[in-house]
Amino acid sequence: SIFLLAFAISSVGHYLASLGLAFVAASLTFRLIPAVSEMFIKAGLSGIDLNKHEKLKKKVPEAIGVVAATIYLIVIFLYIPFHFRAYLLVEQQGTDGFPHDKFVAFICGLLSICCMIFLGFADDVLNLAWRHKLLLPTLAALPLLIVYKVTGGSTTVILPIFARPFLGHTLDLGVLFYIYMGMLSVFCTNAINILAGVNGIEAGQSLVIAVSLVVNSIIQIIGTEYHEGHQLALCLLMPFCGVTAALLWHNWYPSNVFVGDTFCYFAGITFAVTGILGHFSKTLLLFLMPQIFNFVFSVPQLFKLIPCPRHRLPKYDQSTGLLTMSYATFATSSLSRPGRLVLDIVRVTGLCHVRPNPEQPELTDVSNFTIINLVIKMVGPIHEEKLTTYILMLQVASSVLALAIRYPFGNMFFDQ
Ligand code: UD1
Ligand code: MG
Repeated sequence: SIFLLAFAISSVGHYLASLGLAFVAASLTFRLIPAVSEMFIKAGLSGIDLNKHEKLKKKVPEAIGVVAATIYLIVIFLYIPFHFRAYLLVEQQGTDGFPHDKFVAFICGLLSICCMIFLGFADDVLNLAWRHKLLLPTLAALPLLIVYKVTGGSTTVILPIFARPFLGHTLDLGVLFYIYMGMLSVFCTNAINILAGVNGIEAGQSLVIAVSLVVNSIIQIIGTEYHEGHQLALCLLMPFCGVTAALLWHNWYPSNVFVGDTFCYFAGITFAVTGILGHFSKTLLLFLMPQIFNFVFSVPQLFKLIPCPRHRLPKYDQSTGLLTMSYATFATSSLSRPGRLVLDIVRVTGLCHVRPNPEQPELTDVSNFTIINLVIKMVGPIHEEKLTTYILMLQVASSVLALAIRYPFGNMFFDQ
C-alpha cells in the first residue's frame, strides 16, 4: 500500500517520488549498517583504523558502501515506474509511443553503476591491480557510450566567444568526445578512491559533489527549456544523496564503518553516468576540481616516478593525537631522471615537504603527493575530524566557484 500511495503522490511529479524514495533510502541505509556490521567483520571484511591511538585500534567493518549501493539500486528500481508513469498509466495496446530509447539509456546507466559496484567489491575482497582499475571502468562505460551515440548524443561543443573568430561557433569533437567520456568514467571511479584515508572524507566529498550537482540541475530545470537530461540526473542523484548521507553518519569521525572501494567506485560512476546521460559531462568536471587537482598531483606516484607506499594517508602522532604528513622514503640515486625533476619541482613550489630521513640521513623523505598532505603542510599537525572538515569546506568552496564559473561568469564567455 505504501507503494500505491507513493504512486498516487507521484502524479504530482516524479521529483516528489524521487525525493520520497531518497528519504526511504536514507532511513533504510541508516538502520541496516549497524545491523550488518558484525556480519562483515565475521566475513573478514574489516580494516584497522590507522589514525587512532594504539590502545583504541580495533577492527572496523570495511566495504560497507555495498549496503548503501544495494539500497540505492533497490530504490532506483522502484523509481523506474514513476519515471515512465505517463506511459504506464494510459490504457493502450502494444508499446507504441513508449520511449524505448530513454528506457534503454536508463537501464544502461544502471548497468554501468552495477558493474562498478561489483568491481569495487571485488577490489575490497581481492585488492586488484592498477591495470584492472583502469581497464574495467572503461569497459563498463561502453554500453553507455553506445546509447549516447544512438540517442543522438551531441559530440559538438560550443566554443567561448573569444575563440570563435578562429575556430567557429561550435567544434565537433567526434570520436574524441567518446574517448573523453570513457576516460571520465575511469577518472571519476578512481579520483574519489585516492582522496581517501581520513574518517568521513570519501562519503563527505561525494555528498558535497552530489548536492552541488542537484543544485546545478535544479537551476537548469528552472532556467532553461531543455532540461530532460537534468530531470534524469536529479532523479538519479537524490536517492544517492540519501544513502550517502546515512553512510556518512556512520563513517564520520570516529568511524564505526569504512566505506571501502565499493563506495568510492559506486559514487564515481554515479557521477559519470549522470553527467553523460544528463548531457553535462563538461560541467561535471567543474564540481570535481579538488579531485582533479589531487589526481594530477598524484600522477608522479601513481606512475612510480616517485615511490608510492601502500598507504598515503596521513600519519598519526601517538604522543599528540594529531595527524601529520606521511612520507615516502627512498635513496635519491634510485630515482629516474624525470623522478628527480619532479622532486625538484615539488620542493621549489612548496607542494611537498622534502627532508633527509630522520633515522637514515642518507635517504630522502618526501611527503606523499596528496591534497590531504598539502592541507596538513599548510595548517600544521591537525586533529582528524578537523582535517576532514577543512577538506570538505574546500570541496564546498570549489562547488561555489564552479557555480560562479558556470553561471555569472559563464555568460561572459558564452552567449546562451
Ligand atoms: C587508497 C590510497 C591510499 C590510501 C587508502 C586509504 C592511493 C593511490 N591510494 O588506496 O594511499 O591510504 O586509499 O583509504 O592514493 N583507512 C583508515 N581510515 C579511514 C579510511 C581508511 O585508516 O578513514 C585505512 C584502513 O586500514 C582501511 C584502509 O585504509 O582498511 C582501506 O584502504 P583501501 O581502500 O584498500 O586502499 P586503496 O583504495 O587501495
Ligand atoms: Mg580505497
